[in-house]
Amino acid sequence: MKKPLHNVCVVLLVLALNIATGIASAAEPTTRERLLMDFGWKFHLGNDWGVGQGLAKAGTGIGPASVAFSDASWRSVDLPHDWAIELPFDQKADGSHGYRAVGGAFPQNSVGWYRRTFEMNQADAGRRVWLEFDGVFRDCTVFVNGWFVGHHESGYSSFRYDITDVLNLGGKNIVAVRVDATQSEGWFYEGAGIYRHVRLIKTASVAIAPDGVFVSSKFKNNVPAGSAEIDIQAEVANALNVSTDAVVNWEIFSPAGKSLAMGRQPVSIGGASTSKVTEQAKVDAPELWSPETPKLYKLVTVVAVGAKNVDRTETVFGIRTVGFDVEKGFLLNGRPYVIKGTCNHQDHAGVGAALPDRLQYFRISRLKEMGCNGYRTSHNPPTPELLEACDRLGMLVMDENRLLGSDAANLDRMEGLIRRDRNHPSVVIWSIANEEFDTAGTPQGKRVAATMQSAIKNLDTTRPITYAAPVGNEFPGINEIIDVRGWNYHIGQAVDDYHAAHPQQPNVGTEQGSTVGTRGIYANDTVRGYVSAYDDNAPEWANTAEAWWGFYDARPWLSGGFVWTGFDYRGEPTPYEWPCINSHFGILDTCGFPKDNFWYYKSWWQDAPVLHLLPHWNWAGREGQEIEVNALSNCEEVELFLNGQSLGRQGMKKDSRLKWHVSYQPGALSARGYKAGQVVAETRVETTGAPAGVQLIPDRTTIDADGEDVSIVSVAVVDAQGRIVPVAGNQINFALEGAGRILGVGNGDPSCHEPDIFVPTAVSRSVPITDWRYVKVADPYLANLPEVAPAFDDSTWAKFDATAEHGPFGLRERGIIRGHLSVDAETLASSAVELWFGKIENGIAVFINGVKIGTTGDSRYASIYDVKALLHPGENTIAVTLANYGGVSGVNLGVALRLQEKPSAVAWSRSVFNGLAQIIVKSSKQPGSLKLTASAEGLKAATLSIQAQPVTARPALP
Ligand code: GAL
Repeated sequence: MKKPLHNVCVVLLVLALNIATGIASAAEPTTRERLLMDFGWKFHLGNDWGVGQGLAKAGTGIGPASVAFSDASWRSVDLPHDWAIELPFDQKADGSHGYRAVGGAFPQNSVGWYRRTFEMNQADAGRRVWLEFDGVFRDCTVFVNGWFVGHHESGYSSFRYDITDVLNLGGKNIVAVRVDATQSEGWFYEGAGIYRHVRLIKTASVAIAPDGVFVSSKFKNNVPAGSAEIDIQAEVANALNVSTDAVVNWEIFSPAGKSLAMGRQPVSIGGASTSKVTEQAKVDAPELWSPETPKLYKLVTVVAVGAKNVDRTETVFGIRTVGFDVEKGFLLNGRPYVIKGTCNHQDHAGVGAALPDRLQYFRISRLKEMGCNGYRTSHNPPTPELLEACDRLGMLVMDENRLLGSDAANLDRMEGLIRRDRNHPSVVIWSIANEEFDTAGTPQGKRVAATMQSAIKNLDTTRPITYAAPVGNEFPGINEIIDVRGWNYHIGQAVDDYHAAHPQQPNVGTEQGSTVGTRGIYANDTVRGYVSAYDDNAPEWANTAEAWWGFYDARPWLSGGFVWTGFDYRGEPTPYEWPCINSHFGILDTCGFPKDNFWYYKSWWQDAPVLHLLPHWNWAGREGQEIEVNALSNCEEVELFLNGQSLGRQGMKKDSRLKWHVSYQPGALSARGYKAGQVVAETRVETTGAPAGVQLIPDRTTIDADGEDVSIVSVAVVDAQGRIVPVAGNQINFALEGAGRILGVGNGDPSCHEPDIFVPTAVSRSVPITDWRYVKVADPYLANLPEVAPAFDDSTWAKFDATAEHGPFGLRERGIIRGHLSVDAETLASSAVELWFGKIENGIAVFINGVKIGTTGDSRYASIYDVKALLHPGENTIAVTLANYGGVSGVNLGVALRLQEKPSAVAWSRSVFNGLAQIIVKSSKQPGSLKLTASAEGLKAATLSIQAQPVTARPALP
């Protein structure tokens, strides 16, 4: 590529300055660390400690929020984690959320606590440290070392806290997160817990601000021709009290990694403030990003203070233009480009809302196979890794905000979304909200939307904005001011009338379709909750695939649209309710197995020949009866055969399908597709034999040994000839050996109540500690109190009953209590050994064998300490110091040693649904091989070997 003269000059200048000032090249390591914090969390389900926040005094987190609290008996989990998916189904639960026993009616299941311990070095002194959450469902309160650090309500927006002030440098630190999923936000399954990544980020005091780099490209007239002008904005934050001079160096790299342009700009940043630098660059003959050519550039930004590089970030971006034309519709890189999109929620079989990154890639790839080029993140900000998958694989994104609102909190969340996502080339349009029935048509709704739209434009002028409107030819309200009119459903005259009345406003099909259908089902079944997959059932507000796509395909000004939905999701079991627990809207089921409509869209959304027949051909007992056969194809003509006999050749109309009525005989139904008289496609559907064996078909047999990667394995029940039996429902048992674990199982059956996750349970027992004495002392706050020492003779002290409702000390009395506990080595070998006090009123501190183990915590809740390392076989003493300033004081409601064993292994199983199931297998950080076995009664078992290869895992918190 020829470098423009301008850039050559910049390069020479930069090199000269670098040599002169000693500023090293962009590749030199600097002090930013971005550490994944997904591993090694402890989790407890239950609302056992209130809100956790001590409001009287700072740094006094309650229960798990306190430093001394023991989580030794809590379950170990890695993130992302969704506890809702682990809960049983319950008919009393909210059907729109998938009937999991979570939400207002299930308080015991709706609050969860997470804890994570980590070390900080003294060497981290002077650095800023951030805790960054990509998303927590929902209403979460975060504590660090007993200090409250933040509260975030939305289950979908990312947030971060600067925790520098409350860290313990040179020692142990504890993050505790209380998550309350009682209140739902949407009307679909939403999960519960820390279902996206968490990171610990360390930077220098002067550093690039969070989401502070924005790089965008533009061309004259918004049509790529010649060189692209690149606009760079970098915000530098100065956490020091004094004004600081820094230099922002930047360098752009081509998709092949070649340096294309660089520059530098000095910046002076006032104390405790942020400054922005803006720079321009040129890239000649850029390689444009599109779904077909997802070319990615990289901007490296380095901040230097004096001779030292103090920060460095990499920003992936793409060069492309987007726009909407009132007649031509959506324009990508200056040309009309029809959006063939789907709307989706983040929910997948086996894992719920907690998708490993790889599963995002899997799902985007499946959609692309269908010719899909667009993804609407309905109805909320997506997980960042979804956008990375869309950038890399090539998928246009409509990035949607959760809620309409110009209140400060809503605007703040929306602005966070724009700042976070504006570098992704895949994001081509913002959506401010979906179907705000009550307010969208009002003057208030219009003003709120206008405020939101201008707030977006303050941060990003490169993308248009829409709102997903569920109305027909109606203008008042949001539609009056929105850049692009969004259409949810409503095909027909109203759409044409609106266009005629508002010819200056571009349009897009924000939500279209949609057929309800169940994979492999060809008749409605109201008892089992299944819907025929013939594309002939749609809710009254919606349309079949053929109806909406035919309408849109004929009107380029509509820009194409997004089908509701690409994948089935839990909740909204339309048109049924219990026992149905998930939606039927998907073109693919919850596992990503295609329903027949997949081939309808594939026929009309891409050019390669497609020929697909439905239904399956296993209709034992229906011999001689008429069965409707459909051919989904983009061929000009299709000829159908039954057992070699032609049943006729028919011409295909655009955006349509072909139908035959065939008298059923077992055997082979086959078809030939013709273009220009030539056979370009053939297919056949055969009557299979009975189930004979299981097959395991992985999407990948080699995965990364990084503790994050997964192989997504299809499980098929096949006949003796290896053909998938389309009506099989066998129960399959799974076993995994080696360096990994099973993450989840599913089968796409919308009425299946089998577990997606088999959670190991741990056996625990409690040994009461009953031998207690007390004494009054003048000053229990003294250091080195002899009365807490192990050898102290307390035999003359008075005895008391520690199970009583109140302790032995009266008002203004102070004292010490001691308890004795004899344990053997076997007891201490338990996986968790905790000391549990039902209640300590007016306590000061707790000592084990003379060693102080912590303060006594909030008297409304049990105090729990990890004592495994502090007890020894034989006699042990426990002492608690107390000072009663009000009411009564002491240790009461019982004291016990709580012992817990390691959870035992669980047996995984899942039935296949219409021949198929899915099992997701996750790597550990150990390279090696994983052996997955699938067996079923009466069937030949299958074994699959997956290699977990050594990789450099991304930096993670130890
Ligand atoms: C739409 C709504 C979607 C989903 C869909 C079901 O109106 O935007 O979230 O509920 O209906 O058809």
